Amino acid sequence: MEAVINGARLAYQANDKAGLPPLLLVHGFPLDSGMWEAQLTGLAAQAYVIAPDLRGHGRSDVPPGPCTMDQHADDLAGLLDYLGVQKAIVVGLSMGGYVALAFWRRYAARVAGFGLIDSRANADTPEGRAARDATIQRIRERGVSILAEEMLPRLLAPENLRNEQIAGAVRDIILRQSAEGMIASLAAMRDREDSTATLPTINVPCIVIGGEDDVITPPDVIVATGEAIPDARPIIVVNAGHLSPIENPVEVNMALRELLARAPF
Ligand code: MLT
Repeated sequence: MEAVINGARLAYQANDKAGLPPLLLVHGFPLDSGMWEAQLTGLAAQAYVIAPDLRGHGRSDVPPGPCTMDQHADDLAGLLDYLGVQKAIVVGLSMGGYVALAFWRRYAARVAGFGLIDSRANADTPEGRAARDATIQRIRERGVSILAEEMLPRLLAPENLRNEQIAGAVRDIILRQSAEGMIASLAAMRDREDSTATLPTINVPCIVIGGEDDVITPPDVIVATGEAIPDARPIIVVNAGHLSPIENPVEVNMALRELLARAPF
């Protein structure tokens, strides 16, 4: 499915449960809505699951130039308008969490519940920013395949990296991204604002989830993030690295069901 939002064609997946509480799932980098397959099917009894491809990702348009987290947030608000959804539970994984935090700052009245999965609030360090630039340069020279080569071992827990069903699915998602889109996303993450001061303002039911083997957002980051949000408690998911919704969908779906039960609709 697709819609033209703020001048760009946005692709999205949704189950056919428009009467149920809306759950907006925002993917991470360098991924797309394909990472939420187990949530689209596994939560069909509890939620109207909406999973967009952010601009620059998946089957959505790749407009020229960088794209800010605020632009993504505006696109998500436009998509909800298009779908006739006033309020949703908004959950983002990693970069999707950066977008969810921007959405909260701009559209808090439209958020019934909030979730961060394998994500963080702080901005990039100077070293992190330099690493983004170096990755942009390598993509320019060798294409997006370098993202699969370099990131897969950091995205998945060791045992899931050896599981070709999981690793192959993630590799396929990465390899279908465009170089221009990934470069725009890296620049946007490099330049994103610090969201630490946003965390205590989140006054809706919230979950903060992280994989026990996540080397990108390790458990201590998840615990500190959860402690900074009034109505959140950190959940550390076993048998999972940075992509817990793919690596351990049973536990992540259980946490999302609990959030759905707590959110006022
Ligand atoms: C992601 O999973 O979205 C990325 O690892 C986030 C980042 O690189 O900051």
